[in-house]
Amino acid sequence: MSIDRPRISKRIAAISESATLAVDAKAKALKAAGRPVIGFGAGEPDFPTPGYIVEAAVTACRVPRFHKYTPAGGLPELRTAIAEKTVRDSGFRVDAAQVLVTNGGKQAVYQAFAALLDPGDEVIVPTPYWTTYPESIKLAGGVPVDVVADETTGYRVSVEQLEAARTDRTKVLLFVSPSNPTGAVYSRDQIEAIGRWADEHGLWVITDEIYEHLVYGDAEFHSMPAVVPELADRTIVVNGVAKTYAMTGWRVGWMIGPKDVIKAAANMQSHATSNVANVSQAAALAAVTGDLAAVAEMRTAFDRRRQTMVRMLNEIPGVLCPEPEGAFYAYPSVKGLLGKEIRGKRPQTSVELASLILEEAEVALVPGEAFGTPGYFRLSYALGDEDLTEGVSRVAKLLNEAG
Ligand SMILES: Cc1ncc(COP(=O)(O)O)c(C=O)c1O
Repeated sequence: MSIDRPRISKRIAAISESATLAVDAKAKALKAAGRPVIGFGAGEPDFPTPGYIVEAAVTACRVPRFHKYTPAGGLPELRTAIAEKTVRDSGFRVDAAQVLVTNGGKQAVYQAFAALLDPGDEVIVPTPYWTTYPESIKLAGGVPVDVVADETTGYRVSVEQLEAARTDRTKVLLFVSPSNPTGAVYSRDQIEAIGRWADEHGLWVITDEIYEHLVYGDAEFHSMPAVVPELADRTIVVNGVAKTYAMTGWRVGWMIGPKDVIKAAANMQSHATSNVANVSQAAALAAVTGDLAAVAEMRTAFDRRRQTMVRMLNEIPGVLCPEPEGAFYAYPSVKGLLGKEIRGKRPQTSVELASLILEEAEVALVPGEAFGTPGYFRLSYALGDEDLTEGVSRVAKLLNEAG
């Protein structure tokens, strides 16, 4: 019997696969098949989780209390510790009732949009964007509105651009600094100007602070609601332990916001996933109450790799890479290479060029199409120094053949 209803709902069928995870999976599959692929796709530190955090989890595993559910909002002591860590690291003062512990920053992003958006509400999304933002906006019924910034401004949007994108339906500004995928870090003045503009127009801000501790050189992290306190009642902060403590697999993040929004999101979470794994919360508690020595060590390594990568990329004719100031990604333009002949092919798009590089140089990188801007690549520098140098050298050797 045939039923002419689609097997998959339209809402879910419209979601595209995470391109970054897809590239990573393809690279891992080729590697498993014995090909010497070097992957620049990963969005995670290549370091193990610090020992004292792992030990806290091991201890928790042995205590029956940690085998049980926690309140959906998270362990009370973890919510308190996150509130304390927030004022310590960003100066934004909140209390424990404003914190909701989530399964990674990703769930916080999704729940933040779900809690705020009605069908048709618009969200301004600085672009290049992290692939999850538009998908989670659409899933929540909202409409993402891209505002594109290119390499000439170091991928930072201006208030004028934001204002040009604002309509009567605009409800939220998505903000992320340091940024995935560009590594852009906004200055305090820029954050203040954007925050004041958002406040003036009654907009909500969802600010993703997951890379707060990964800034280099003179760049500084600033939290928008700390810089523009008037915004606090319409701001949701997204954060987590994944990048700061090399804890991507533990799945602990959080959202911070006004109590009514946090209550609404906690209600939703109570029906979707309940609490984050209790043992993971114990590990996160050790992380956020501990010091920042481990991230300082990672930052030193990332900074060294960042400089090597940017220098090597800029030596390739046709590649232009502004210096990223945060996170662990470089985002070069490769527009100068599109349409040129390389090994008998003429890739016209960054997707085609990335595919050629994977085939010919056995290097995986993510094309800019995944982030809303064709003509670019994202390369993570969260991999070992030797692999990094070898990988970029292979890319350079291939691209130097472009004629
Ligand atoms: C900008 C940004 N926000 C949030 C996240 C979420 O991280 P997680 O869900 O692992 O905590 C990521 C991960 O890649 C990210 O790049």
